[in-house]
Amino acid sequence: MTSKKLSYGEYLQLNNILDSQYLQSGKQGNLVHDEMLFIIIHQTYELWFKQIVHELDSVINMFKGNYAQEENTGLVVARLGRIIEIQKLLIDQVGILETMTPMDFLEFRDLLTPASGFQSIQFREIENKLGMDAEQRVRFGKQKYDEYLDSNDRKRANESEKSPSLFVLLEDWLERTPFLQFKAFNFWESYQSSVEKMLNDDIKRINENTTLDKSAQENSMKNYANIQKTYEALFDEIKYKQLLDAGHRRISQKATLGALFIKLYRDEPVLQMPHRLLTQLVDIDQLLTSWRYRHSLLVFRMIGVKIGTGGSAGHGYLKKTAEKHSIFRDIANLSTYIIPRSSLPELPKELKKELGFYYTYAK
Ligand code: HEM
Repeated sequence: MTSKKLSYGEYLQLNNILDSQYLQSGKQGNLVHDEMLFIIIHQTYELWFKQIVHELDSVINMFKGNYAQEENTGLVVARLGRIIEIQKLLIDQVGILETMTPMDFLEFRDLLTPASGFQSIQFREIENKLGMDAEQRVRFGKQKYDEYLDSNDRKRANESEKSPSLFVLLEDWLERTPFLQFKAFNFWESYQSSVEKMLNDDIKRINENTTLDKSAQENSMKNYANIQKTYEALFDEIKYKQLLDAGHRRISQKATLGALFIKLYRDEPVLQMPHRLLTQLVDIDQLLTSWRYRHSLLVFRMIGVKIGTGGSAGHGYLKKTAEKHSIFRDIANLSTYIIPRSSLPELPKELKKELGFYYTYAK
């Protein structure tokens, strides 16, 4: 008996995939040409969302538990890098949909109500697995986002909200950053005086800047007073807690100090991978924000300020999510505390040795 050889179409289940474009306009007996593009674009997004969820799940698993994830950092960085490349493609893809004109869209738009991308369960899973703060979500009605989902999807959304997100696991990991206290070395004290000098230099520059009018100068000074306050809070538990309580920070003080150490001493061999990882999380967060902006501009060009098929204020709602739905903002914001390489406190020799790789030994 000869077994049937696997074919390309069978392996990829092409019959299923290519037979899944049901045009609502066709069903109504008035087929609209552009509806095919509309469906295929959304389906392609969902396929890529599936790949992103797949990568995120594996990264989250590698981060779980208290064992040494350091062994996995290379793989985590590789997989996050893949997510980043997919996200770039997702932003680019919007241009294809923009070849459809608003008038062509109007030919079939009403047939979609009340369906909306707002109900994309995979998009919600991506947000939740990354660590979207449920309390901070922009609402467009009185209901929570999950109430617009069917019961199966709602269950999935709730599960992804409850299980430890990448944000939470990262915070844990950063809190365990070693070397923050190294014997008698008081790194933070010397760092503090470098930052103080940097901020005082900036304030001096603002005061001496004759191109700024009085109100611009006052604004800059106010801004710097805030920076100084948050900087003081870095080393003061009570002040940091006030920032957390007021919603100005989300990540713990201990994790912030760990992340800052990694950012400042990124050139040390042991810290290079962790630094890449932190950079990638900021990339992923900002690419998600870029997608949100790109999508909200697409919506503005397609429907102006009309309401969405899901019932939101459309462009207005989406613009707000782009401004507010950031997950790793605190990591990007660490740049406020970065000092020039030349002002970095020098690490004791013993600590530098701990942070290096030694394959060869000088005789
Ligand atoms: C003509 C093109 C499009 C229009 C006019 C449009 C319109 C909208 C509107 C108005 C909303 C807000 C919810 C509502 O009231 O319905 C929304 C949400 C959303 N759309 Fe689109 N959309 C388009 C294309 C796409 C594409 C190609 C995707 C890819 C998957 C997508 C994914 C989403 C997602 C994930 C949300 C939820 C965003 C959030 O709540 O943060 N949309 N869309």
